Amino acid sequence: MIHPTQVHQTLRRHQLADGLPVVFDLERSEGAWLFDSRTGQKYLDLFTCFASWPVGYNHPRMAEREFLSELTRAAACNPSNSDLYTVEMARFVEAFATRVTPAGFPYNFWVSGGALAVENGIKVAFDWKAQKLGRMSFDDDCDDLGILHFRQAFHGRSGYTLSLTNTDPLKTGLFPKFRWPRIDPPSIEFDAYGQIANDVAALEARSLSQARAVFADKRWKIAAILIEPMQGEGGDNHFRPEFLAGLRELADQEQALLILDEVQTGFFGAGTAWMWQQKGVPPDVVCFGKKSQICGVYSSRRVEEVKQHAFARAGRINSTWGGSLCDMVRSRQLIDIILGERLHERVAAAGERLLAGLRRMAQSGRSLSNVRGVASLIAFTLATPADRDQTLARLQEQRVLALKSGERAIRFRLPFVLSDADIDWALERVESSLPK
Ligand SMILES: Cc1ncc(COP(=O)(O)O)c(C=O)c1O
Repeated sequence: MIHPTQVHQTLRRHQLADGLPVVFDLERSEGAWLFDSRTGQKYLDLFTCFASWPVGYNHPRMAEREFLSELTRAAACNPSNSDLYTVEMARFVEAFATRVTPAGFPYNFWVSGGALAVENGIKVAFDWKAQKLGRMSFDDDCDDLGILHFRQAFHGRSGYTLSLTNTDPLKTGLFPKFRWPRIDPPSIEFDAYGQIANDVAALEARSLSQARAVFADKRWKIAAILIEPMQGEGGDNHFRPEFLAGLRELADQEQALLILDEVQTGFFGAGTAWMWQQKGVPPDVVCFGKKSQICGVYSSRRVEEVKQHAFARAGRINSTWGGSLCDMVRSRQLIDIILGERLHERVAAAGERLLAGLRRMAQSGRSLSNVRGVASLIAFTLATPADRDQTLARLQEQRVLALKSGERAIRFRLPFVLSDADIDWALERVESSLPK
């Protein structure tokens, strides 16, 4: 056995171990509280494993005998789901496709990892666009195909997504990239009362005119417009439905797919299954991951505009495991828990309470601004990067785990089981952690 006090130094002997100082106790962590087996202290978990764990720790339904025996069967053998099917897989696919994937999106694809979900969404678009352009031979040159994307975007760190991510240069610098067109995001700024405080319509007009210029410039054949419905790592930047409607119109006019990256926002994180449903603008392809455990994409019928689209022709998008069966079993249990207990509605109310408390601080002149968010996705901005880093460190000292967002913001990614008392406890600690 390795004692909890030895965990970090054991890891450090063999790898970079620059993570949180806590040692996560898988048995004693409960609900919104993460138990540190190194010190015996509990932390309020407002980071939820980078927005990937929705229902709190050791939810009672995770101890159900039937679930555990299915999970053990899946864990003891790791089938290559893309070609070798099981009852366990079919139970998951049926649940996800009928209870989580919205109507009108008949094509699903599964893989492990959010970046690979986005990567495959992009491949669907390239494959579609190439055929739209009449390039049907596998020898046809497709190096002029590109993806229109945004500054402050984070889509992952795999081959294609590395060319689209542009938050911290540390994550993308010194790697070769595709120079696909990048335009400005028209991010909303909120005042202390939650009202829009900037001239966002002007920013939207500028972004759409940049996008039109990209389409007019014939250097690139744009296969897709790719956007996070709220940019997460890039600063919790929110967009109006009007802007997404503008992108939808352009994508239709210009023969491009509209791809939404909902890896951070999806699977009930915004209080609805998908954030785009609140905007009322349907995309063509949605990429998901994190809270859904299994990652992947779902797609509308627009791909059928070409006969041999990527969901119809075997082998165009694939991987050995096609996602892990353990993740599928766990995902199905999460769907049952969230929808059965209406936890997405509960976290929507929790988000409102946290927002209200943060706005009260902003209204009373405390040094935080641009309080924003919905349901499990809440953020606020500090005056400088140093203020932000110090506030985050003070929060951690007071046993609240949160995350950086962009250059100056702190983001909370709430567990769906957060109680009012937990929120009030967190608000007190935020208040005492803010710069004086
Ligand atoms: C919006 C978005 N897309 C893609 C990714 C990449 O996911 P992963 O880290 O699982 O590859 C992330 C991860 O934070 C994300 O927030």
